[in-house]
Amino acid sequence: MTSFRIEPVTPTVGAEISDIDLARPLDEKVFAELMEAWHRHHVLFFRDQDMDPASLQRLGRRLGPLHVHPQGDVEGYEGILAIHTDRNSTTYSGSKWHADVTCDREPPTASVLYLATVPDSGGDTLFVNVHAAYDALSEPMKRFLEGLTAIHAGASRYGGYFGTRPEETRDGAFPEAVHPVIAVNPATGRKMIYVNEIFTERIVELEDAESRLVLEFLWSHIAQPRFQCRFRWRADSVAMWDNRATQHLAIWDYWPQTRSGYRVTVKGPPPPPV
Ligand code: SIN
Repeated sequence: MTSFRIEPVTPTVGAEISDIDLARPLDEKVFAELMEAWHRHHVLFFRDQDMDPASLQRLGRRLGPLHVHPQGDVEGYEGILAIHTDRNSTTYSGSKWHADVTCDREPPTASVLYLATVPDSGGDTLFVNVHAAYDALSEPMKRFLEGLTAIHAGASRYGGYFGTRPEETRDGAFPEAVHPVIAVNPATGRKMIYVNEIFTERIVELEDAESRLVLEFLWSHIAQPRFQCRFRWRADSVAMWDNRATQHLAIWDYWPQTRSGYRVTVKGPPPPPV
């Protein structure tokens, strides 16, 4: 028995949690139960949460030290990023499968997204379990991938797609990092596929053409519906994902309506190789 209700969305990924108020400080027992549910389901969804940047920041700090996005914070709120799309938007966050900010040397371990305003319909977010995707690979393919590393770069996303200039970023330059292609989630010890379509540019040890083919295979493998769940937002919902165990994809099918809220990300050590 837990202090709140847990309803799995699929057997593979995602659970809806009810009878909990995230805007209030969680006591040790409830927090421990929440962490247990989170590591079992990888992304948790909550409805009817009365959050604002301050309470979201407090919840983020409970999960660990806050991570500052390369494009900066909402003024006055360290670690908080505005997620906002309206009729004037030309780009949006999450347009391809990805984990958040893997171009950082220490990519976030966790992200929590709160949406206050949502369109009448649409604007769903899809999540995929990259442990399950790894488990489904053949043993020879797992052996081939283990030991490889890949370059993750922020330039095309932040510079090309969002039009941010390097001098406007957190470090005055776009982040870049090398991570293992197959990594271990320190929270659970499970192996996972750790390349994604937004940030991963190239597998270091392969020729360009080989790298492209292997990455394209992994991206299409990850995107299979059997590893996924889909979250339909309502106003005042929260999604809290393990940014190692999952990747996500946001759908922009609601123009010209507004979808708006805040995301907090939590720092962690780089995911270790197998
Ligand atoms: C993101 O964190 O990539 C945005 C996700 C979303 O807006 O659903």
